[in-house]
Amino acid sequence: MKKNIAVYPGSFDPITYGHLDILKRGLELFDKIIVAVAYNVDKRALFTVKERMELIRESIKGNSHVEVDSFEGLLVDYVKKVNARFVIRGLRAMSDFENEFQMASMNRNLNKDMDTIFMMTSKDYFFISSRTIKEVASFNGCVSGLVPEIVDKKLKEKFAKK
Ligand code: COA
Repeated sequence: MKKNIAVYPGSFDPITYGHLDILKRGLELFDKIIVAVAYNVDKRALFTVKERMELIRESIKGNSHVEVDSFEGLLVDYVKKVNARFVIRGLRAMSDFENEFQMASMNRNLNKDMDTIFMMTSKDYFFISSRTIKEVASFNGCVSGLVPEIVDKKLKEKFAKK
């Protein structure tokens, strides 16, 4: 039987419980999800792509239905390369919609066979973003309950060095 594969792309700098919630619920729809960390030149990252992938791997705790990868260039090309058809994106608020709508429409224009599936971020996490997590952590604020323990630990280590 053909496996139903989806790609969950993002910067994941770092992964949060908001992302993990989308991932968990996405696994109810797909046999396999590839979490694809993007090399995003427009965003100044705190963690390297390698570190972000490692944090994701530790957070998913060996779930065999999840693969962690990275990509450079266009998302549509990556999706084709891994033989997937679907992309998952989380929506937190109306403000996410415009940008997501543009990206999904552009991607669809580039590849008619690709579809983006939007999932609502659960109410416990809709206010989180990686940027706010980093900002709070940088001032020694508490982010436990919003990110996996390993992410909390690595954030503390990063900001202790700065
Ligand atoms: N819960 C909590 N936070 C969430 C979330 C959720 N469910 N879903 C997203 N976020 C947050 C992220 O933490 C991130 O926060 P930040 O901006 O403070 O870092 C923010 O929402 C959006 O980031 P992300 O989901 O990582 O998307 P992105 O905009 O950084 O990257 C890509 C989007 C990588 C998919 C897109 O840029 C891409 O496809 N790039 C490849 C190049 C390409 O093909 N371009 C053409 C597209 S038209």
